[in-house]
Amino acid sequence: MPDDAPIENVRAAIAQRLRHERALGIETVAPVALERRAAPTAASESILYDDVELKEAPAAPEAPVNAEDKAARWAALEARAQACAACALHRERQTVVFGEGNRDAQLVFVGEGPGEQEDKTGRPFVGPAGQLLDKIIGAIGLKRDDVYICNIVKCRPPGNRTPADEEVALCRPFLDEQLALLAPKVIVTLGAPATKTLLGTTQGITSLRGHWRLYKNIRVMPTFHPAFLLRQYTDANRRAVWSDMKQVVEKIKE
Ligand code: URA
Repeated sequence: MPDDAPIENVRAAIAQRLRHERALGIETVAPVALERRAAPTAASESILYDDVELKEAPAAPEAPVNAEDKAARWAALEARAQACAACALHRERQTVVFGEGNRDAQLVFVGEGPGEQEDKTGRPFVGPAGQLLDKIIGAIGLKRDDVYICNIVKCRPPGNRTPADEEVALCRPFLDEQLALLAPKVIVTLGAPATKTLLGTTQGITSLRGHWRLYKNIRVMPTFHPAFLLRQYTDANRRAVWSDMKQVVEKIKE
């Protein structure tokens, strides 16, 4: 296939190949060049549109053609993530924390990276920060099963350190593909690393939070990370997150 083939043709060819391989009994998918593809320059994808009315509602990005293709893409993506050894984080991980939740969700939360509990269980946000995230989700009238939750890196950085730029860049194609498949109405980025990664900005979370941005054509609400809230459980910080979540609820209802 030529390098400049339309993306739908590339996807259709991949789906066909996967069906063919499955028919041959091949169940695992080897990591492919996708992991090493250059990360998109998110800066060019992030448009501040606070207080600016979009003329038209953003279209769902790259909607997969049909349910079968979509399921095949999810399966292939998760298989690649589970087998990924692109960066050093794979060496100390116990599990790959791919992400979980409702794949038809209107709302997606993107965090930083798995912590200890997440690494043990293979599930995102199940430790103390996750319990607070569950409360936040409940406070806006939703259940964890209503939303999708994932991280910018899928393997635990040792000692819960902030993931390095290179680790984030190598993991980025997984996140971009997840978000393309999910095509949610709203993404909430939790904390500075997730926000900076998705929006390609160096601005701090304190000034970014509470203001709508765009990732591709999906609305993004940056807010504080629940782990930060746990550390600094002040009225001002709680009110800030609540105000961000109220905006999210309003946007989803539109
Ligand atoms: N913090 C994150 O950013 N992600 C998790 O999955 C857990 C804690």
